[in-house]
Amino acid sequence: MRENNLDFYDELLAKTDIVKLISAYTPLTRKGATYWGCCPFHHEKTPSFTVSDQKQVYHCFGCGASGNAITFVKNIESVDGSEAVKILARAAGLEVPSNVRGGGADGRAAAEKRERLHALLREAAMRYHSNLSTPAAAKHNEYLAARGIDKELITKFGLGASVSGSDVIIHLKSKGFTESEMKEAGIAENKAGNWYDVFYDRLMFPIIDAFGSVSGFGGRTLKPDPDFAKYRNTSQTPVFDKSRLIYGANLLKKRKQRSGLDYIIVCEGYMDVIALHKAGFDTAVASMGTALTFAQAKQLKNFCGRVYISYDGDAAGQKATLRGLDILASAGLNVKVAGMPDGLDPDDVIKKRGREFYAGLLANASTLTAFKIETLKKSFDLTAPDEKSKFAVEAVKVIKSLENPVEREEYLSLVQKYTGYSMASLLSQAGITDAAAPAAPPVPPPPAKPKTDGGSKDAKARLFVLACLADDAPFVDYAEDFNSLFCGEAEKTLCEYFLQNKAQNAKSAAPLYNLVSDEQRELLDAALNYEFMAGDGAEKYADCVRILKIGAIEKKKNDLAELFGKTNDLQILKRINELDERLLKEKNGGNENE
Ligand code: UTP
Ligand code: MN
Repeated sequence: MRENNLDFYDELLAKTDIVKLISAYTPLTRKGATYWGCCPFHHEKTPSFTVSDQKQVYHCFGCGASGNAITFVKNIESVDGSEAVKILARAAGLEVPSNVRGGGADGRAAAEKRERLHALLREAAMRYHSNLSTPAAAKHNEYLAARGIDKELITKFGLGASVSGSDVIIHLKSKGFTESEMKEAGIAENKAGNWYDVFYDRLMFPIIDAFGSVSGFGGRTLKPDPDFAKYRNTSQTPVFDKSRLIYGANLLKKRKQRSGLDYIIVCEGYMDVIALHKAGFDTAVASMGTALTFAQAKQLKNFCGRVYISYDGDAAGQKATLRGLDILASAGLNVKVAGMPDGLDPDDVIKKRGREFYAGLLANASTLTAFKIETLKKSFDLTAPDEKSKFAVEAVKVIKSLENPVEREEYLSLVQKYTGYSMASLLSQAGITDAAAPAAPPVPPPPAKPKTDGGSKDAKARLFVLACLADDAPFVDYAEDFNSLFCGEAEKTLCEYFLQNKAQNAKSAAPLYNLVSDEQRELLDAALNYEFMAGDGAEKYADCVRILKIGAIEKKKNDLAELFGKTNDLQILKRINELDERLLKEKNGGNENE
């Protein structure tokens, strides 16, 4: 009988053969009591990675990676600790106890459900794929040929065809899956008693996670009709979370195991990934059209620390690039931006200009800071004196947040070159009197606050308003005093960031360096990837703003009430009464009269 979790971990580690586990990722040779091999966490040709089967630990003398079997699985599979424990427990034939996250009967039921959905999705992917060899997919094959996607790529990416509203459903039924399971997996819907394939007629891109499990699909319409959403993606399911999945992660992992990774290319879409692989850039992955999330950034970091962002050269692409950059940088990745020529995506660039040209874009990619300064430069007219000084102020703000004084000086001289201002005045603008002096430490992070109830009415309203700001929704009234709407530090920072994005015509924004806690990053992820639905319009926005106003007034009132309790100051009581009246007004929907 196990007494507690610690006993469970001990048993798990004892039942795991770490040498066998790690050998599956890198060949190990025994030398005395230690096993040696090339480190699976960094690229090397001579072994500096050691495993001790007595101590059940590994250590790399090259990069310093070290730990036990759980740490190893966590890092090599890019998963969190509880997932790593589950993977090892499954291999060791142990049941994860209920007091470990994801364990016990509930955890087991959820795991079984996921396995079943994965099996269903794999079966569907195979059906779609084999459809391509039938006459029913003539249109799909024509389209693939026109886009230069050959047999080899079709196989590599497991592409397929949905050929009718019922084909995949009939097939899955014959394999023992029910319609409600198909619905849960995001494949089928019911309309007036009839089940149909939601990807009807589309060209299918299976989205496969790093473990090789099919998690969902992207389906491209073959119709040129602009009224048809170009791509339809699986909606949120127990196995499909768009904000965590990376398109191409399965291939990236195989590539890493085969020959290591020097860098990763992150682009926006399915077709870009395929075109890049075709041209030999086989470390390309995509974020599937949404802003990169912190969860994705962490996963990328586990694969490789160096990332090139290769988004579309249009305004939306630039905006996405900036956000992606901040998120990647805050996850500790070394990021560079491979700017695409106006209006082109990587697929277009390779088709129109060739692979050498694209390679040149990677070679000349800019650092995060350089990219920000260049983007700022484009949004100001440097021949007009007042615009020039505004540019300098904004650029210096970006540079100020750099920690390395040498780097700071390098970028300041770039701004000097663009503006002609003296170095001394730029330095004083930056609040740096002596260039050699270390940078003023960044503003300390606010103390971690207890997690707020993410499900409350207030939290939902806050998230919705932030999401509308992030999206620059047409009904947002920018005359609103947003600063007084939000109470928490994280919300205030994000709000300010989105407003700056808007003010600078979405071309640049202050970096998000002050987002330090995971809570703040999660809020950012949630706002950027908010899934708007029908009904998420002006009315809901106004309601949410009102909820926030009421919340802010109530908070102020409570603060004053506390102060009044201490001071008995009648002036304070008067202000409390005023707030009460405003509260009543807001609660009546902004009308003075009842
Ligand atoms: P793009 O519109 O840049 O698509 O969207 P693309 O990859 O270049 O597609 P082609 O070349 O026209 O076929 C980038 C990504 O955004 C998501 C998809 O993941 C797409 O690959 N997206 C785009 C959607 O999810 N839905 C859409 O309607 C459009
Ligand atoms: Mn494209």
